[in-house]
Amino acid sequence: MESALDYHDVRALLAWQMELGATDAIGDLPVNRYELQARLPKAAATQAQPAKPKEIDPVDVARQMAREANTLETLYNALAQFEHCDLKKGARNLVFADGHPGARVMVVGEAPGRDEDIAGKPFVGRAGQLLDRMLAAIGLSRKDSVYIANVLPWRPPQNRDPLPVEIAMMAPFLERHIALAEPDILIAMGNISCDALLGKRGISRMRGTWHEAQGMPVMPMFHPAYLLGQPLQKRAAWSDLLAIKARLDGV
Ligand code: URA
Repeated sequence: MESALDYHDVRALLAWQMELGATDAIGDLPVNRYELQARLPKAAATQAQPAKPKEIDPVDVARQMAREANTLETLYNALAQFEHCDLKKGARNLVFADGHPGARVMVVGEAPGRDEDIAGKPFVGRAGQLLDRMLAAIGLSRKDSVYIANVLPWRPPQNRDPLPVEIAMMAPFLERHIALAEPDILIAMGNISCDALLGKRGISRMRGTWHEAQGMPVMPMFHPAYLLGQPLQKRAAWSDLLAIKARLDGV
């Protein structure tokens, strides 16, 4: 049955009730508002959520970029374009490599320090000069028989140790770097390098014995920076250098 009241009547009645002090419109039956509330979120939950942007995995990006690099030059360019490692923002230069590409020996250090960051080359500071002397002692030089790179191509702030997340992110580039350089022997300088190449640390235990990475022999050695502070350990380093020389000579 249609109501006899029109819009204006209903409005006038409402105004009259408000004048009498009515503040809420209530029905004949009580309403359980807790029940209403319980039903509400379900309805909200069924509403379509806006699509979340797909998260980027920096390690996947690094893998893809490294895989696509077919020369040392394109690998350098790939690293220069890689934007996911925050170390890059604080570094002056990308420190890629030094020495003779294609050399039989490849040294893998940790990360650039201040001098390397300024020069854009690995191992140019005091530790680097000691490294050159160590290599020269077995007839090797970066000029024609050694190639040198680091686990990380950018300097960590205040020369702090590389973080595991940084090592993992840059590992695909290092792996590709080694594959493209094709050395016969790798030298893992210090714990960080052992971690990146062999997946474990413990340089005092590991040095002096041959390990394997990417199908190549790896000699873990004390880092030259450590030897600068611990000259007595140079004896161990000398023994490792002789083992490297013997292997190169096919003894
Ligand atoms: N230490 C490293 O491991 N690498 C460098 O390039 C310099 C110091």
